[in-house]
Amino acid sequence: MTRIHLIDAHTVLYGIIGKPVRHSLSPAMHNAAFQHEKINAVYLAFETDDCPQACSSMRCLDIKGYSVTIPNKEDIVPLLDKTDHAVQKIGACNTIKNVNGTLVGTNTDWLGAITALEKSGITLKGAKTVILGAGGSARAVAYGLLEREAKVTICNRTLEKAQQLALEFGCEYASLSEAEKIHADILVNTTSVGMANLSDKSPISKKGVENYQIIMDIVYNPLETVLLRYAKAAGKITINGLYMLLYQAMAQFEYWTGQKAPEKIMRKALEYGVQ
Ligand code: ATR
Repeated sequence: MTRIHLIDAHTVLYGIIGKPVRHSLSPAMHNAAFQHEKINAVYLAFETDDCPQACSSMRCLDIKGYSVTIPNKEDIVPLLDKTDHAVQKIGACNTIKNVNGTLVGTNTDWLGAITALEKSGITLKGAKTVILGAGGSARAVAYGLLEREAKVTICNRTLEKAQQLALEFGCEYASLSEAEKIHADILVNTTSVGMANLSDKSPISKKGVENYQIIMDIVYNPLETVLLRYAKAAGKITINGLYMLLYQAMAQFEYWTGQKAPEKIMRKALEYGVQ
């Protein structure tokens, strides 16, 4: 039986800052991990878009770590004392560690996406990949794929945004409709097409999906998007949005604690949360 640590005067505080934040699955995952590893810590959801106040609260109350979500990921960057290469290149921070009052920012979103792909067994070096979308999530996925030396094409509805991102990152770009014609190893959807209010749509057609081998969707609500349904029907390897979420959270846990994250426990908490 897992013994739940009692909250006492030594309990360390972590949390997520975002607005809205009540739907977040991060508290369930991180608290499950802390309890399982018998770490005397709790993780709460703080609904705020006031980044300066959130940073001073962190210093003042000695909050050890934040996950950062919409709309704070970009705004928080200039307020941090140190940031790594990933944050600087992606332009967004999703993880802060408070090291004796020094706020250090990293980004584990890219690692979440890359781990999800690598766990499917593919070697990313030299792989031909297509990213649908050119927003914040696309930046994180593109950063990760380029770090692993994959070949990247960014396809977006608004072509200028794809062009701008491709220029900045040094990769290829095309319109969203072009993604139908490209043949590649991996397709990653980072657009919101397939999400709740657009849940009956796929960013590319059933026929277009046939040109790819592995199809990953970062949308996790619903778990099986129309895109993934097309991919499954075509016999492709599919990766749903829960994996990126799980692996970015595991990377956060490891960054904060220096301990290996309990994958099964965090996965169970996540799956329970999306039911
Ligand atoms: P995130 O931070 O999750 O990436 P974002 O920065 O708002 O969110 O980016 C959303 C992406 O989804 C964009 O690439 C957007 O395309 P545009 O640049 O053309 O706006 C894409 N997107 C949103 N709705 C879409 C739709 N109905 N069809 C195609 N692409 C869509």
